[in-house]
Amino acid sequence: MKSVTKKQILGLLEELEEEGVDYIENFCSSPETSVNKAEMLENLFQKNRTCMKCRLGETRKNYVFGEGNPGAQILFIGEAPGRDEDLIGKPFVGRAGKLLNDIIEKGMKIKREDVYICNILKCRPPENRDPLPDEVDMCIETLITQINIIDPKIICALGRHAASALLKKGQKLSDYRGKVHYFRSYPVIVTYHPSALLRNPNLKKPTWEDIKILLSIAQGCPPEETGAW
Ligand code: URA
Repeated sequence: MKSVTKKQILGLLEELEEEGVDYIENFCSSPETSVNKAEMLENLFQKNRTCMKCRLGETRKNYVFGEGNPGAQILFIGEAPGRDEDLIGKPFVGRAGKLLNDIIEKGMKIKREDVYICNILKCRPPENRDPLPDEVDMCIETLITQINIIDPKIICALGRHAASALLKKGQKLSDYRGKVHYFRSYPVIVTYHPSALLRNPNLKKPTWEDIKILLSIAQGCPPEETGAW
């Protein structure tokens, strides 16, 4: 199988831009495989949608399971639903979600529906406070099952909380960035949470550096050849 480097990905995206191409197609597994995976994800959702394993079950409006292509090659994992997500029942639909859409669609040239998006926690913490360790412990099994079903080529952890739930705990975001980590057998790239970009637009540039590494691995570049340090 041929692989591409980060530099080639950037060149390709620039060419697509010049040629007015909006999206790269086929960024997910075959429709047949996706149907099976969709069924397994639906079963997992039905099994957990009334979950009361932690206190967040009492205050949530919706159990925000996740959405996207069940056969996606790229899986984005955020922290937890916010107010808009809790009301609508879908991940990343508020202001941070619009920015994530821009990263995926305008930057990566992939349709949002061709990736999969979910969170570490499926229920909104009151006032959007940080997830508590016992809430993460209660929710992580569902996420692991989701990852195993989707079986992505690469995971993108959005922000420190997502990274520390999946990887070695307690590091700063700057310690996680710029390296290819592994969750079980899955390569993981960590980047800024879109909410951080809303607060500080200067973070968009370093985020794009992370996304280029992510894209090159999704396109088959061996992680050790991405130039990540
Ligand atoms: N922030 C997250 O981490 N997840 C969402 O779904 C929305 C905002």
